[in-house]
Amino acid sequence: MALGRPCSWKRVFCLSAVLSFLFCCLFLLPNATHRERQASARFFAAWQGPSQRTHPVAAASAPGGVDFGPLFSGARSEPHCEPQQVLLILVTSAPGNAAPRQVIRKTWATQDRRQPYPWQAVFLIGQTTPEGSAWQVQQEQREFRDILVGNYLDTYRNLTLKVMHGLKWALERCRPSYVLKTDDDCFVNTEWLPEFLARRNAIKTGLYAGSLFPREKRQVIRHPSSKWYVSNQDYPPNEYPPYASGVGYILSLDAVRRIMQAAEHVRPIPVEDAYLGILAQRAGLRLQPSARFAKQNARWRLCNYRYLMVIHHLSAREQEAATQSVREARSACRETLEITQWK
Ligand SMILES: *[C@@H]1O[C@H](CO)[C@@H](O)[C@H](O)[C@H]1NC(C)=O
Ligand SMILES: *[C@@H]1O[C@H](CO)[C@@H](O)[C@H](O)[C@H]1NC(C)=O
Repeated sequence: MALGRPCSWKRVFCLSAVLSFLFCCLFLLPNATHRERQASARFFAAWQGPSQRTHPVAAASAPGGVDFGPLFSGARSEPHCEPQQVLLILVTSAPGNAAPRQVIRKTWATQDRRQPYPWQAVFLIGQTTPEGSAWQVQQEQREFRDILVGNYLDTYRNLTLKVMHGLKWALERCRPSYVLKTDDDCFVNTEWLPEFLARRNAIKTGLYAGSLFPREKRQVIRHPSSKWYVSNQDYPPNEYPPYASGVGYILSLDAVRRIMQAAEHVRPIPVEDAYLGILAQRAGLRLQPSARFAKQNARWRLCNYRYLMVIHHLSAREQEAATQSVREARSACRETLEITQWK
């Protein structure tokens, strides 16, 4: 009876309409975005933000938050990343700073023994000219595979983009338990910090730790000639929320994720560490103030090296001396509260 139904032609028509719709969805539509994705890195596909922009956009002109797509565009070799690391150390550097990078590789970033608490250091560098990164940087990356080159002009006012690029890469490619952001004129206590994080740190999630700037140093600078100038339009309040000095701050991976989500909605400002504080506040993270991050390189006693995690402003010789000191301090100093706690 069903065979003889007069509406069977209708059925055939319906069926073919449904099939061609499915064909469109499966083959033609993804193809339309294919070329757009090809133009940028693999990350672009994972990035959920606006995908319409086709040219690099300077930090200040992004109307919403950070536009991550352009930062990753262009096929470049990425640094090597071991999975399951305790700590990834992101070191902001500049194309011309090959010498400090080499000192770091030979001092605190040396991995001459098997690491019981695996960690890795990666340098963050931008473009020398709008055409691309310096030839020397490409050579260096080929040799050491420890440089993350981003698609932004490497200027001080673009430091925020540099750090956002590094954190996004850490979150999506490297996935360590913790990230430390620091600079290439800093010493990092790789003798103790990875172990401290793995064995002693009690704040496993939502961690944002560093040296807190006092309130009077959190005033927004409105002199256009200052390198920390921020316009009223970019950030209306006169004071920044509590934030950690960019000399060194540590984030747990979940905190990085929450900060990256906030960055999609908060207009970037060129003061990188203050911007992190703004994002942390929006993400509901509270800064854990810590005296383990030294903004100055003072005349530290040997046992200070047992617990100091980051020290700012070291010459090549001082980097060597500090690396020696953290090793000596390990056997020479008693275990105190400073060694096992953030405060
Ligand atoms: C889809 O894109 C690929 C690569 O750009 C191309 O080779 C292929 O012919 C396209 N397919 C269709 C159905 O348009
Ligand atoms: C930041 O980088 C972008 C992209 O390369 C560039 O267009 C812009 O001029 C840079 N901004 C500053 C302030 O250097």
